[in-house]
Amino acid sequence: DVQRSLVLVKPDGVRRGLSGEILRRIEAKGYTLTAVELRTATTEILAEHYAEHEGKPFYGPLVEFMLSGPVLAVVIEGQRCIEGFRSLAGATDPTLAAPGTIRGDLGRDWGLAVQQNLVHGSDSEESAAREIGIWFPGL
Ligand code: CMP
Repeated sequence: DVQRSLVLVKPDGVRRGLSGEILRRIEAKGYTLTAVELRTATTEILAEHYAEHEGKPFYGPLVEFMLSGPVLAVVIEGQRCIEGFRSLAGATDPTLAAPGTIRGDLGRDWGLAVQQNLVHGSDSEESAAREIGIWFPGL
């Protein structure tokens, strides 16, 4: 079925000038860009977005990293785009992400407290609805 997914180009991706390349891969795959907005996150938005990670050792560094610069918040749409984007993004750890994926081609481990892995993508229909509601309450 046709799904929507929330994608974030994280601050490392925006800082490195990879926003266009990442959007290009999404569009080349055939997904539609429904909303695209460059913005700076807030602790409130991140607390909601990352609620499931609260208490994990990387939570503090993760929030700090996500506040370190603007993110590109994107809603994509297409048949099975939730799984499809996660497949485009590759594994969470960019060292292990397969070549051909966004993280595998463009990311690496920088030896920091949190994996700076360029992108986020919703992991289920339930999280997509929740995350789109957080980042784009109007959609
Ligand atoms: P994301 O898909 O945005 O969800 C949580 C983020 O935390 C993840 O991408 C990584 O940026 C980061 N992360 C997940 N697991 C770890 C880990 N074990 N160590 C450091 N950072 C992590």
